[in-house]
Amino acid sequence: MEIPFIYGKIVSDRDFTDRTQESSKLLANFLSQTNTAIISPRRWGKSSLVNKVIKLASEANSKLLFVRMNAFKCETPQEFYELFAKRTVKDLSLGVDWRDASVGEDVLNLPQLIAKKRKKKVIVCIDEFQQIGEFDQSSRFQKILRNHWQEQTDVAYILYGSKKHMMLNIFGEYGKPFYRFCDMMFLPKIDNQDWQEYITRRFSETGKAISPELSGKLADIVDNHPYYVQQLAQYTWLRTPRKCTEDIVQSAFQSMLDSLNLQFVNLMDSLTEKQRGFLCAICDGVRNFSSVETLSRYRLGTSGNIRIMKNALIKRDLIEVSGSIVDIQDPVFKQWILKEYYSI
Ligand SMILES: Nc1ncnc2c1ncn2[C@@H]1O[C@H](COP(=O)(O)OP(=O)(O)O)[C@@H](O)[C@H]1O
Ligand SMILES: [Mg+2]
Repeated sequence: MEIPFIYGKIVSDRDFTDRTQESSKLLANFLSQTNTAIISPRRWGKSSLVNKVIKLASEANSKLLFVRMNAFKCETPQEFYELFAKRTVKDLSLGVDWRDASVGEDVLNLPQLIAKKRKKKVIVCIDEFQQIGEFDQSSRFQKILRNHWQEQTDVAYILYGSKKHMMLNIFGEYGKPFYRFCDMMFLPKIDNQDWQEYITRRFSETGKAISPELSGKLADIVDNHPYYVQQLAQYTWLRTPRKCTEDIVQSAFQSMLDSLNLQFVNLMDSLTEKQRGFLCAICDGVRNFSSVETLSRYRLGTSGNIRIMKNALIKRDLIEVSGSIVDIQDPVFKQWILKEYYSI
């Protein structure tokens, strides 16, 4: 039996909702060799989008070659160079294995050399690129990358990553090496309208039924978050004999919360008591964190703490701040705090 709705993997074809606008913008950047940075929280669909656009671009232009790497595990420039060399050699099928471990910054020129030699264009896609911000002497390394890459006329770079504050640190700060190096793309979530259409269609393709209205509600419960919508849709689908009802969606959501419980408990345990209080205040919709009443109700200490806590939680990607609005980044974590944590 085919089980629809995939989460936790790169999705493609039937499991990929349109993302028409984002796909065509990124495709245009690929075809015009425009360096691009893509930023969104994790599990919003960056890797899947890049994957899809690589396919579209290779269909549209046979002169394009692709190198893909994931910088997630790189901890030093040396490791970055080694992986860069290895992936370039593998993806551009040079027919040799990369064994030389003593590589240095020269390997950054490999894609350009190959592009020239083969009279092709190369697109290098680097996932979890924010990782380079963690290297010792990161600015120095960023300068080296930029110096090599900006000279290359036949190679474009697609640099994407999940940690917004770190990506913005690299790309958004005046005077830093990567400032203005890339076209910046902030990947949004997927629209509720798209989810409605997609969920309804996948149910009906697999012999079950759900109304568009209920599909929309399902996506709403998890705030249209791509990974969670797929997860909740799968839980719901598995519980649906033939026709889905609102009760089924609710019980699927409860079971999803149960399955995430331990993970969220551990996450809470890793925070200080004040940070936990701060998260609870956010969940309760508090706006003015420094008021005497809020400070005492949530045991936040002095108002001077607020800034420190905010920064610590931004660094851990737990909260999002836009202007004066502070929110919990993970919509299911937020509901878990409201529904489960308060009753512990
Ligand atoms: N275009 C899409 N259509 C449907 N589901 C998607 C889409 N993009 C992402 N998802 C869902 O989100 C999950 C995470 O996607 P992924 O591409 O790995 O995100 P990221 O690279 O931003 O962490 C996927 O496993 C899938 O469940
Ligand atoms: Mg990814």
